[in-house]
Amino acid sequence: MPQRRETPVFATQLGSLFGEDALLHLSRLDAETVDLVFADPPYNAGREAWDSFADSAAYLDWSARWMGEVGRILKPSGSLFVCGFSEVLADLKAVGLRALSSFGGPGANASCRWLVWHYRNKANLGRDWGRSHESILHLRREKFVLDVDAARVPYNAHTLRYPVHPQAESSRYGKKPYVWQPNPLGAKPRDVLEIPTLTNGMREKTLHPTQKPLELVRRLVAAASAPGDLVIDPFGGSGTTFVACELLSRRWIGCETDPGYQALIAERLSQPLATTPAESATPPDLAAEADRAETRRRAQRRKLR
Ligand SMILES: C[S@@+](CC[C@H](N)C(=O)[O-])C[C@H]1O[C@@H](n2cnc3c(N)ncnc32)[C@H](O)[C@@H]1O
Repeated sequence: MPQRRETPVFATQLGSLFGEDALLHLSRLDAETVDLVFADPPYNAGREAWDSFADSAAYLDWSARWMGEVGRILKPSGSLFVCGFSEVLADLKAVGLRALSSFGGPGANASCRWLVWHYRNKANLGRDWGRSHESILHLRREKFVLDVDAARVPYNAHTLRYPVHPQAESSRYGKKPYVWQPNPLGAKPRDVLEIPTLTNGMREKTLHPTQKPLELVRRLVAAASAPGDLVIDPFGGSGTTFVACELLSRRWIGCETDPGYQALIAERLSQPLATTPAESATPPDLAAEADRAETRRRAQRRKLR
């Protein structure tokens, strides 16, 4: 019997947002039809009602179920990004690898790269280690596609100081004599992405408490999918992934159970989308300057108290 299809709560020419539970929605999608899943799920940090589970066993069990559905719907060329604190993703990595390896037949193993999102501009109160990173699992099926050229970043100041130089005799890279020149598209994206976290007052910031920077999501979607591909975000939040998909001409499907956040997504996608780089696309040198400015502001606030 065909599965009942839910009506979207909001749609554009490229995508549809559904108000139903992510697990239920994923279970309704056809096998091997999706190019990329970008998931920023609850972290089980207990700060919001949607972020609370009975215990870590219940959280892991739920994670295995939604990732199992993702393994089923991803094409063999597909990828799954999972955002989270490293302490949480350490528990999810093996679960995700199992989920993506279960559908490719014998020997068709999924793989994983561990990406780090590093920021320096977050207020760090309290007596524990100050947090300046989160992680992103890049889980991929056996024939995954990655376009590094689509996610190249500006070269750093050191490289630009010596833009053209001969390759060292001992270098393992390139035939000699070989003169290294910068790639006109920029530097190869690395597994540490330095992008400021969103703070109150930034133009890009919405009322969603765990909104991800657009530049972070844009870079990952650009690298792991192509124009016209189908991207799913099961935990829509403020709709950052859908904005990235609209800017990059990807088709998209999203879920978000909270009616307030559904309205936020609809409003965000109804505004003219930025044609200039997102505010969070700050080059590393400016990120350091933003960090220093935040330190100055905090010192001033302390003085005023
Ligand atoms: C971590 S936030 C995502 C933030 C998003 N990446 C952004 O940039 O705004 C997770 C979102 O998932 C939603 N959510 C939680 N459990 C869900 C479920 N089972 N199905 C669908 N949405 C869910 C929450 O309401 C929350 O808005």
